[in-house]
Amino acid sequence: MRIGILTGGGDAPGLNAVIRGFVIRALQLGHEPVGIRHGWRGLLDRETVPLTVQDVDDVHRTGGTLLRTTRTNPVKDEATKRKALDGYKALKLDALVAVGGDDTLGACAKLAKDGVNAVGVPKTIDNDLQGTDVTFGYDTAVNIATEALDRLHTTAESHERCLVVEIMGRHAGWITWAAGIAGGAHVVLLPEEPFDVEEVAEVVRRRDAEGFGYTLVAVSEGAVPTDTTGFVTQTDKKDEFGNVRLGGIGDRLAKRLEELTKKETRSVVLGHLQRGGAPSAFDRVLGTRMGIAAAEAVDRRDFGKMVSLRGTRVQTVPLTEAAKGYRVVPKEEVESLRRMWAPPRARLPPG
Ligand code: F6P
Repeated sequence: MRIGILTGGGDAPGLNAVIRGFVIRALQLGHEPVGIRHGWRGLLDRETVPLTVQDVDDVHRTGGTLLRTTRTNPVKDEATKRKALDGYKALKLDALVAVGGDDTLGACAKLAKDGVNAVGVPKTIDNDLQGTDVTFGYDTAVNIATEALDRLHTTAESHERCLVVEIMGRHAGWITWAAGIAGGAHVVLLPEEPFDVEEVAEVVRRRDAEGFGYTLVAVSEGAVPTDTTGFVTQTDKKDEFGNVRLGGIGDRLAKRLEELTKKETRSVVLGHLQRGGAPSAFDRVLGTRMGIAAAEAVDRRDFGKMVSLRGTRVQTVPLTEAAKGYRVVPKEEVESLRRMWAPPRARLPPG
């Protein structure tokens, strides 16, 4: 079979490991892998590159995606969908592997309904996809955010400041949750639960009264204060899938905290630093396993599926699983984390 592979949506460390695993295994099974450049735009524009073993040699150690990516929506209207289906035929593809998040996989599921022999590979640093336990890219992002928090501790402490760190995570706060715990943030704010700014200010005051003199606040870009409605965004523009561009909650929160506590408060946005650079060993392994599994799924004609990690096993599940809403941090984890920054009395078990 001639099998196309594309990467869509925001990049994530581990994408090149997927491409390498897929290409090597597809060739071993006697297929012809073809790279489609720039995500779904490449299918519309019929922009391909050959993929040989030499092309993917050692790429699992590098970040980004060698196929490049865009947030193009191939099913945004009937005419565009027609163009995508025509592209699939014109490129003489027998199957297509789409590596991406909910938008890319949602589009892939729609094209599968119209006859594309599709297999999906779930990807997002946000780790918020249904149908799989973990996505590659997440581990690397958590390590980067943890290192940032580690570094910010020492400067915040030296200057006796409050530092607010804005971390990626649109609908789910997985990165903030994990890095907040690992990096020892004193307050962790997630999109899963609206937060009260006065309560955060109280933690800052209490830590000062206890003699610590500094506080680190980790906040997801998608976290929302109780006195506000909707995300804090950078612009009103939306991408082709209707996603807003988040950003600014850290700065806004820092200003409010400084007003309330009269303590010098600064903010840091980690932004795309969390997506760039070399993948962690975990993401290289998971990406490779998923690439291999995608090639094997195509080989046994297991179409309309996405590869998925369940426990320690890589398997396939229906592509539509990824579009079943976001996988958020469970309530009990949010509550347990909250108890960590509550006043000492509240930390004790009842009685
Ligand atoms: O979906 C992953 C993600 O990294 C989000 O956390 C973030 O909001 C978004 O992508 C940013 O995307 P872009 O780089 O296209 O603005």
